[in-house]
Amino acid sequence: IYNGLQVKGIYRGYKGLVTGEIKEFKSQNVSNIIQLGGTILKTARCKEFTTPEGRQLAYDNMKREGIDALVIFAQEFDVPCIGLPGTIDNDLYGTDTTIGYDTALNTILDAVDKIRDTATSHERLFFVEVMGRDAGFLALNGAIASGAAIIPEFSTEVDQLEEFIKNGFRKSKNSSIVLVAESELTGGAMHYAERVKNEYPQYDVRVTILGHLQRGGSPTAHDRILASRLGAAAIDAIMEDQRNVMIGIEHDEIVYVPFSKAIKNDKPVKRDLVNVLKELSI
Ligand code: F6P
Repeated sequence: IYNGLQVKGIYRGYKGLVTGEIKEFKSQNVSNIIQLGGTILKTARCKEFTTPEGRQLAYDNMKREGIDALVIFAQEFDVPCIGLPGTIDNDLYGTDTTIGYDTALNTILDAVDKIRDTATSHERLFFVEVMGRDAGFLALNGAIASGAAIIPEFSTEVDQLEEFIKNGFRKSKNSSIVLVAESELTGGAMHYAERVKNEYPQYDVRVTILGHLQRGGSPTAHDRILASRLGAAAIDAIMEDQRNVMIGIEHDEIVYVPFSKAIKNDKPVKRDLVNVLKELSI
């Protein structure tokens, strides 16, 4: 609107594009929302959009509404698309952090601080499961920030749980909190807890799965500033006639990352962070 463009909001992401849930937006539509979690536009997973018929419907709705650029689509139709990296998992290549990640991290911190009271008072071993599908950013940085441990990366050679019990928990501590990233591969926090209960019955073990708590709440200052900068940059990109790029921030500079790279390239966790955690866990 600042740039003299007409803005429309599409409800429920691709689903709204398919069903035509599209509304004209004035600046008042986004007043008093910066402190809110979630999204006023709602969001949904949309199976129909994965089919060519569904995408054709979406494209027809767009054209009918007079929409000629999207802040987010792909190369199938000739529509300029600009993507914003929104996920708590932080697993998108080409941006230092994603929108929502810092808020989720702070939620984990708050939860672990609270769980610690029971862990220390009752001298218990807690396995706390955090989100992140197969990406370890939330678990690793959550552990550094909250003084918790993690079961290190999955390895077939060393029994990681065994190592942790020997080197970490048993040596010096009567209580401990271990962050575990949700994973179908390892079985998550429940799996580790069951094993400890069976193999070391002397330990008093508990599990907390933080789940969708991590995906809500008022955004942190970092996320508000990040989303504002990326949003503004997305409009600049449209006006520069960019297409099919995700807006990211690297070393505090705005960057344009082709969708193909953002989605397909791996974003590994930094080795030095793993080392920091190792050093702090002695
Ligand atoms: O946003 C990504 C993510 O939070 C993953 O970490 C998690 O596995 C997944 O979403 C949960 O998705 P849903 O809400 O559909 O169960």
